[in-house]
Formats: sequence, structure tokens, C-alpha cells
Amino acid sequence: KRPAGAPDKALARKVTKVGIVGAGLMASQLALLFARNLKVPVVMTDLDEDRVAKGVAWVHAEIATSLERGKIGRDRANHLTGLVTGSTSKDGFADADLVVEAVFEEMSVKKQVWAEVEAVVSPECVLASNTSSLSITEMAADLQHPERVVGLHFFNPVAVMPLLEIVRGDQTDDASLATAFATGRALKKTTILVKDSPSFIVNRLLARYMGEFSRIVDEGTPVPVAEKALAGLAPMPPFVLIGLVGPTIALHNSETLHRAFGDRFHVSPNLKKMVELGRPGYYQQVDGRLVVDPALEAAH
Ligand code: 3HC
Repeated sequence: KRPAGAPDKALARKVTKVGIVGAGLMASQLALLFARNLKVPVVMTDLDEDRVAKGVAWVHAEIATSLERGKIGRDRANHLTGLVTGSTSKDGFADADLVVEAVFEEMSVKKQVWAEVEAVVSPECVLASNTSSLSITEMAADLQHPERVVGLHFFNPVAVMPLLEIVRGDQTDDASLATAFATGRALKKTTILVKDSPSFIVNRLLARYMGEFSRIVDEGTPVPVAEKALAGLAPMPPFVLIGLVGPTIALHNSETLHRAFGDRFHVSPNLKKMVELGRPGYYQQVDGRLVVDPALEAAH
């Protein structure tokens, strides 16, 4: 059955090569997902050799682990490893049919990336942003072909989270949208079309939930008590989830929503503090155990 809002799948373009802008944790997970499911070459790019090498090495290591665990055979592992390459140049995108960006969540950075990508790719190449909260319409506005820009919003951990939010910008055409849906299906994700509004659906809902959780803690309830209250209600406590997605992204999301919708969205002072201190989240690993960062406890 065709997902609500999806154009006729006959309009979808065939994807024979994928470009990924960025080689960070999200971008690397995407590279692996695309190679595994589409079985086409995937080129990762980033600003410097070191980042590219780290991203590609992460993907290759994941494939090696799958081989060691007997999840895939040696031929498949070798094939997959060969599919994922990296470069600091975007020249490898010239014959790509789809380029996905997973770079820093800043509109000016995204616009700059798309301008550089557009200078290399064919006019038909679909450009997909994995933005978690920014406007696809605005991101595409300055391009020569804004009609090929869509949002493909994946969730962490990419390999296991079933959902893919697909965002149609004001100018996105049916062929690009159909390609987005067909790609989502090939990636074995559940696809939904979401409005191009701040943080789409999932992050908007999550921000309210996480914001209230933060308020409860800020008001003095100890973290373990607040976490126990979620037993059976959530697969992962909110502060652990913030560690998974990264405090910078979580803060950016709540600030975007606060700007768009005002006080309905809480920007947690503790979250700000974690970002300012450069912490990986509210928890720290101490002797192999996760403990709440003392900087947060001091806030009570
Ligand atoms: N990468 C790959 N696979 C992973 C993984 C990872 N990082 N983490 C877990 N898995 C796999 C495990 O290998 C296991 O697979 P198997 O069944 O084949 O053995 C399966 O997932 C279940 O793992 P576990 O039994 O270890 O643990 P859980 O049952 O607790 O599941 C979880 C782990 C799926 C991560 C679960 O805790 C969960 O759903 N957490 C919430 C995640 C979430 O809400 N993500 C959305 C964040 S918002 C976002 O990403 C948007 C962005 O814009 C900010």
C-alpha cells in the first residue's frame, strides 16, 4: 500500500550510487545502512583526511564484526567493505543519484554544503538532508534545482530504529519525493511524510517529553527516581537518550522549538551546561558504570 502522501513509485529514480556528506557517527551509520540495503557504492566525504579515515574505518569495523559474529559470509563482507569509500573531495558525487548530508545542524552550513554539492552532481541527483529540525524549503531556496531537495530524517541507532521521516519542501517535486519513499522502502524503514515544520513530528514530541523530564529533575527529583517512573514506558531513559543522540543536537532541537513555539518548549539550563562543559551527556563512565555527571547533581 502506498504511504500517505507518497507519489506513484514509478516516478522514483534508480539509485546506483550514493554520496554522503559528513563522516561523523550519524553519517557513518547511514553509509553502512545504504551499502547494506541498496548494495551500491557509497562515497563518504568530510573536511579533512582524518575525519574521513575515521568514518570509513568505523563502517569497515562494523562489517568485520558482522563477519566475526557469523551474520554475513566472507564474500559479502568483502563486497560490502569495497562498496564504502571516503574522500575529502566531492568529485566522487558526479555520478551519484542520491546525496545525503549529515553535517552540523546550522542552516548556513547546510546551504554551503548543498551549493558545493550542486556544483558537482547531475541536475537529476536527489539531495537529501538528515536535518533533525531545520526547514527543507529554506535549505533549498538558493539552489539552481531546489525541486530535488528532500528531508530524510533517520533515528539513532540507525540500524535498528524503524522509522524514517520524509520531508517535502515547498518546491520538492514528485520524482524526488518518490525517490525518497522508494529509498526508504529499500532501506527497510517505515516511511511517513511529515510537514516541513520545526523538528517535524518525532523530535517535536521527544522535546516535550525530554523537556518535562529535565524540569522534573531541575525541580529536585533525583535522576534515578525520575528514571524509575518510566519503567515500562520508555525503552531508554531520557538522559541516556541524550547521550546517544549527543547533547549538542538535543540542545539545538529544544532551542529551535523554543524559537518557533515559545514556552511550550523548555530549554534546560542543565543541558546548556553539559554542552558548555563539552560533556558527552548527563552520564559519565566511572569504573565501567554509568554515573550522573556531578556537574548536574550540583545543580540541585
Ligand atoms: N547499533 C546497531 N544495533 C544496535 C545498537 C546500535 N547502536 N544498539 C542496539 N542495537 C541492536 C542490538 O544489537 C540488538 O539486536 P539483536 O536483537 O539483533 O541482537 C537490538 O538492537 C536490541 O538491543 P539490546 O537488546 O541491546 O537493547 P534494547 O532492547 O534496549 O534496545 C535500543 C536498544 C533499540 C537502542 C532501545 O534502547 C531504544 O529504542 N532506545 C531509544 C532510541 C531512540 O529513541 N532513538 C531516537 C532518538 S531521536 C533521534 O535520533 C533523532 C535525531 O534527530 C536527534
